[in-house]
Amino acid sequence: MTKATPRVFSGMQPTGNLHLGNYLGAMVNWIAMAQSHESIYCVVDMHAITVWQDPRELHKAIRDVTAAYVACGLDPKKSVIFNQSQVSAHAELGWIFNCVARLGWLDRMTQFKEKAGKDKERASVGLYVYPNLMAADILAYRATHVPVGEDQKQHLELARDIAQKFNIDYQDSIAEAGYAQGFFPQPEPMITGPATRVMSLRDGTKKMSKSDPSDLSRINLTDDADTIARKIRKAKTDPDALPSEVPGLKDRPEAANLTGIFAALEGATVEKVLGQFGGQPYSSLKNALADLAVARLSPIAAEMTRLAADPGHIDAILADGSARARAIAAPILKDVKKIVGFVQS
Ligand code: TYM
Repeated sequence: MTKATPRVFSGMQPTGNLHLGNYLGAMVNWIAMAQSHESIYCVVDMHAITVWQDPRELHKAIRDVTAAYVACGLDPKKSVIFNQSQVSAHAELGWIFNCVARLGWLDRMTQFKEKAGKDKERASVGLYVYPNLMAADILAYRATHVPVGEDQKQHLELARDIAQKFNIDYQDSIAEAGYAQGFFPQPEPMITGPATRVMSLRDGTKKMSKSDPSDLSRINLTDDADTIARKIRKAKTDPDALPSEVPGLKDRPEAANLTGIFAALEGATVEKVLGQFGGQPYSSLKNALADLAVARLSPIAAEMTRLAADPGHIDAILADGSARARAIAAPILKDVKKIVGFVQS
């Protein structure tokens, strides 16, 4: 396997508001990794259109998600921040990976089954091959580390399978191109922290998601202080007091979710949170959680509003990031085409 220099890649879909799950499951780790690694963070607009998006709303959402990246604390001078459709390497490598991945692999993807629902004949072809494009996103930069939430684990495994199959299928050609130990690295999923799967505030067995019809189920990064506090107050609970130790969270999804969120926001462990709130009614945890969530999220919302007032600035960030992304991907794509056998003039 190639001993590649560490490089971080990840992305979020511009399909509406980012929420606390995106923030705690992914963004917090993106920010941490950006301190110590070369990092590339993408607004994956081409993934968004695998399900219908109104063009005007998509246009706005791309800018809003970019603003959210910056408002959360990513520095566009340090990290490469851009939108996917401005860098054609994603689509080009995505096509090559459509020809590497096997139908059987994609048939096993649970997210396709969930998103396509019962009527899969009517799902777009793009939705089906989505994981191949995701592999291309990562491997167009030969990225080695991918910070994501739990729900992306299966897609990351597929990206690793694609990298491996490409390295094996083309091994002679790869060696001829001067790569002694395979061309693509095995990208490492980074799924860490106490909130890798933030659950709905209305149902602790369902993932917090943009597509849940109930806005009470999630905390949006744009919610104001009153809304955040109200949603936490109304969050579903069970009738018992909070347990004092982690095993006591078993079969208590709402308790596990709220303590996990608290721990992630505070930068503490769930053990420590239970040490503080164990034996107490939910209301004491909820009051403290509302204060903590408002303190952490309000400055982000304020910064997003400030940035949204200047779309020219956001577009300039995306233009600069796209140019830098293209420069990294171009020589990699050139080598891929050579390895595959394409004539390049
Ligand atoms: P997306 O846009 O659905 O979500 C963005 C990130 O947020 C995480 N996430 C969560 N984490 C914890 N709890 C939740 N309830 C929750 N909901 C979302 C996701 O795991 C993700 O990390 N396919 C990806 C986007 C993508 C991508 C990539 C990611 C496209 N290409 C390449 C990494 C590398 C997606 O739809 O994420």
